[in-house]
Amino acid sequence: MPGDKSISHRALMFGAVAVGRTRITGLLTGEDVLRTAAACRAMGAAISEGGAGEWTVDGVGVGGLAEPDQVLDLGNSGTSTRLLLGLVATHDITTFFTGDASLTRRPMARVTEPLTQMGARFVARSGGRLPIAVTGAREPLPIEYRLPVASAQVKSAVLLAGLNTPGHTIVIEPEPTRDHSETMLRHFGAAVTVEPYENRGRRIALTGQPELVARDVAVPRDPSSAAFPLVAALIVPGSRVMLPGIGINPLRSGLLKTLQEMGADIALENRREEGGEPVADVVAKAGTLEGVTVPPERAPSMIDEFPILAVAASCARGRTVMQGLAELKVKESNRLAAIARGLEVNGVRLEMGEDSLMVEGCDGPPPGGGRVATHMDHRIAMSFLVMGLAARRAVTVDDGSFIDTSFPGFVDLMTKLGAKIARAAPA
Ligand code: S3P
Repeated sequence: MPGDKSISHRALMFGAVAVGRTRITGLLTGEDVLRTAAACRAMGAAISEGGAGEWTVDGVGVGGLAEPDQVLDLGNSGTSTRLLLGLVATHDITTFFTGDASLTRRPMARVTEPLTQMGARFVARSGGRLPIAVTGAREPLPIEYRLPVASAQVKSAVLLAGLNTPGHTIVIEPEPTRDHSETMLRHFGAAVTVEPYENRGRRIALTGQPELVARDVAVPRDPSSAAFPLVAALIVPGSRVMLPGIGINPLRSGLLKTLQEMGADIALENRREEGGEPVADVVAKAGTLEGVTVPPERAPSMIDEFPILAVAASCARGRTVMQGLAELKVKESNRLAAIARGLEVNGVRLEMGEDSLMVEGCDGPPPGGGRVATHMDHRIAMSFLVMGLAARRAVTVDDGSFIDTSFPGFVDLMTKLGAKIARAAPA
């Protein structure tokens, strides 16, 4: 399995503003992460790929980023864009950001709003969308910011801006989201405290202007990528797949929990820690699945996994209800609509709500035979290819090229597991 995308972005960014040489093993070399590497290079960090998958980053120190000569093109990557907007917001430089047709449709006001409070100035297209120009604050102000949406990207943007800000930058998250930034900031020597907030939330405080010290980072394997062969193993009769060294951070493992509630035969073996994150070897065996209701508060811990859960649900017995899906509408595509349409063209019955989805399971193989519009979204492409492995008729996706943003080698790996994935004749 490839390295974790979220952790790979962060390892490069924190390495870029640390003092000294950071060595990274297991870095994801998908296009999204390569965009982050290119942007950090353009701002003065020296980043190179050594032998045996080891990467090195020679950082410039907190506050040391240089103004890039050219526009930063972040391709398809929302994580690169939002986190880097945070990083440059408290540097006294002017930076221009753009991206592809998917990224330039996505909302950025969710980060420019708190970063403006910290003193940065933005010029964005209508709706706060890319392209965006940002002039960072000369004298940044620390803020206490309560997240209006459950988003680790927004939390991380504010924390990254807080690095070059005197005093304490505080983020309150009413719903907990992935905590890789907090964990890695500590690893690089920053003072970060996390306290409980109200029922389920957290209050995160970062002490500004630390000297970040270069560290070694071992990137665990991505649970969001592992989700595809995992669900394939569950829904293709006779399968057994072992996925070694997969991240099982509780703020990322909502899919595992949901599949187990559905009756999936999944075992977590050899639990251990790698790079400060919990990992395990995940063993999945095919069997029957039952429909379940996924509560809305679980959504942040599986936000990228709803497309593949919908595929599992289409093979299950009974209905699966997913709630709290509003954020799916602003991912690489409108994922809620893309999932619904993909199920529909493959003969699966469903009901889509404003922020919910009900999938009527087929109690076995779904009909298939559809051609799925992927809308530049890697996870829609991979999910429906996995559906094709179980469906009665082949499933076609209109564009597989975006798979490389997060999971280079997906087709080869699935082929080794026995999948038959072929290039279709043009429609
Ligand atoms: C990510 C956070 C999530 C997720 C994305 C990666 C991160 O986005 O969907 O793939 O690395 O922080 P949101 O923060 O917008 O929910």
